[in-house]
Amino acid sequence: MLTVDRSSVVEWYQRNRARSRAIFDIIDPSAYYSRPIALRNPIVFYEGHLPAFSVIALIERGLGGPKVDERLEKIFERGIDPDSADAAVPRSGAATAWPSRGEVLQFADRADAAMLDALARAEFRETRPAMEHGQALYTALEHEAMHQETLLYMWHRLPYDQKRKHAGIQYELDGAPPSSDERIRIPSGIATLGANRETATFGWDNEFDQHQVHVSEFGIDQHNVTNADFLAFVEAGGYRDPALWSPENFAWVQAEKVWHPAFWIRRDGQWFWRGMFEAIPLPGAWPVYVSQAEASAYARWKGARLPTEAEFHRAAFGTPSGPERVYPWGDAPPDATRGNFDFKSWEPVPAGSRPAGASAWGVHDLVGNGWEWTSTIFGPFEGFAPMASYPEYSADFFDGQHYVMKGGSAATANELLRRSFRNWFRPNYPYVYATFRTVNH
Ligand SMILES: [Fe+2]
Repeated sequence: MLTVDRSSVVEWYQRNRARSRAIFDIIDPSAYYSRPIALRNPIVFYEGHLPAFSVIALIERGLGGPKVDERLEKIFERGIDPDSADAAVPRSGAATAWPSRGEVLQFADRADAAMLDALARAEFRETRPAMEHGQALYTALEHEAMHQETLLYMWHRLPYDQKRKHAGIQYELDGAPPSSDERIRIPSGIATLGANRETATFGWDNEFDQHQVHVSEFGIDQHNVTNADFLAFVEAGGYRDPALWSPENFAWVQAEKVWHPAFWIRRDGQWFWRGMFEAIPLPGAWPVYVSQAEASAYARWKGARLPTEAEFHRAAFGTPSGPERVYPWGDAPPDATRGNFDFKSWEPVPAGSRPAGASAWGVHDLVGNGWEWTSTIFGPFEGFAPMASYPEYSADFFDGQHYVMKGGSAATANELLRRSFRNWFRPNYPYVYATFRTVNH
């Protein structure tokens, strides 16, 4: 029987639910059935999906318990929308007859009651495969937190008149744009990827097995590439130069007429940041948010490249003396001085403005203020096995078409900032809170 701190998992579930409610409350009712991002599900799906998934993962798969509502769970289980964006696959769901919001909220209340009862009282028997090491419990809890980030970047695409503006938002704008030509040398050494199956409290299937990789010496940007840095690439015609892009990526740029980051707006000859609640004159010191394709083209323009997943680990968690750290700044738990994460901000903050979060080598913002693109194709580590509580989580994406992102953004919950956590997207998906830095040898 698994021992867990009941009050802390109850508190975690309630904290998740309160945050999800606040996120859905941003939406104007007129937008409830709209799709902020084409080919993704309409908003209504996600409000039902979060409680439905929790019930399916923990109560049904983990505990062998009953369904809360067979019909609504079927509609909301996976829908047509895997957790990582798969923009190339049409998953319209257009034929689905979506329930009314009242029906969704009523279902959510019943699901919450069942979940809170299970968290407080159920026997967590590890003899069930989905419950080994408490897997189904953490699957449910982390799944909701991960969706909160995907919801927020979807909300970023919605027209401003479909959102209720939060009053009095202060943006951190100041900070000299750091020069991205300053690279820090990282000597060759070992990087430990993945999590230890025996000692980790929880990890998703793609985080196992833990293994060590030798990394050759390289140089890495001290700071993320900023909007100001990236503007020089735009103005130099980087989007029109096929030599900077792979053939597939250049075909995307041409077909979609992409000529600037999706988070930028061009208005009356001026550049603006597409903020959550308003357009903001482009803050030069913020990290630029772009797709992996755009990041790769910029890196090539600089005569550099994107880091590999192992190089990211080495720069973030390695130390000159050898032992690796839990977080870039050390082993202390995340707090707001260490980086821009855990929903403290709707937008980025200036690159380099959380120096207490720098790594042992002095590289800033590796965790927080935007996920970091790597050049590593998402794939299984040796020892990978799909998890019983959510077998389709990773395996559907080992197709050579997705790249690993590391770190975290302003909308990444503290619980997801662990070293072994991996995120992944297609290279031409431009809507995520993802930035990058460049490396050379
Ligand atoms: Fe999901």
